[in-house]
Amino acid sequence: MDIITHSDIERILIDSDTIHRRVRELAARIDHDYANVQRLLLVGILKGAFIFLADLCRELTIPHVVDFMAVSSYGMTAASGAVRIILDLREPIEGEHVLLVEDIVDTGHTLRYLQQVLASRHPASLRTCVLSTKQRPEAIDLPVDYLGFTIPDVWVVGYGLDYADRHRTLPYIGALKKEVYQ
Ligand code: PRP
Repeated sequence: MDIITHSDIERILIDSDTIHRRVRELAARIDHDYANVQRLLLVGILKGAFIFLADLCRELTIPHVVDFMAVSSYGMTAASGAVRIILDLREPIEGEHVLLVEDIVDTGHTLRYLQQVLASRHPASLRTCVLSTKQRPEAIDLPVDYLGFTIPDVWVVGYGLDYADRHRTLPYIGALKKEVYQ
């Protein structure tokens, strides 16, 4: 049972026990689906996915390796949909089984870009694992193979998610008070 430890947080949306249960369920499905694969390459998207990825990969029993990318929106918001790579993978992924790991889908612009970029590099397979997706009817509809939670369209922080780089290390996913970001 989590307690709110910061005055910026309005309420806890998903507590840490629920998150960890769901992460174990996702890992079990991934283990099952990739049971016959020589190795799986997990691609975590910084910064937001680092906590989710760290927990997810430690639950996996299949052979796997981890690498990271970081992307940035042009301008201050993702609203334009323009995304650029600021940190790329160390190795080519041709012939690799790749699982893209993201913390959140909001507008969908980031994930669409990443799926297109990775697919263009000819992996043996490409799937996507997302911790949370917002309930936004106008969001781009994208294939997500492993989804943790659908959450309300409010500003969320914790478990990797931030507001101006703050609150990423809260153990739960919480809704930020409106007066903090409005
Ligand atoms: C967040 C999140 C996703 C993206 C989702 O990253 O980690 O990558 O936004 O938004 P979208 O669906 O509207 O494209 P952010 O740019 O905040 O960077 P961070 O992960 O470093 O916090």
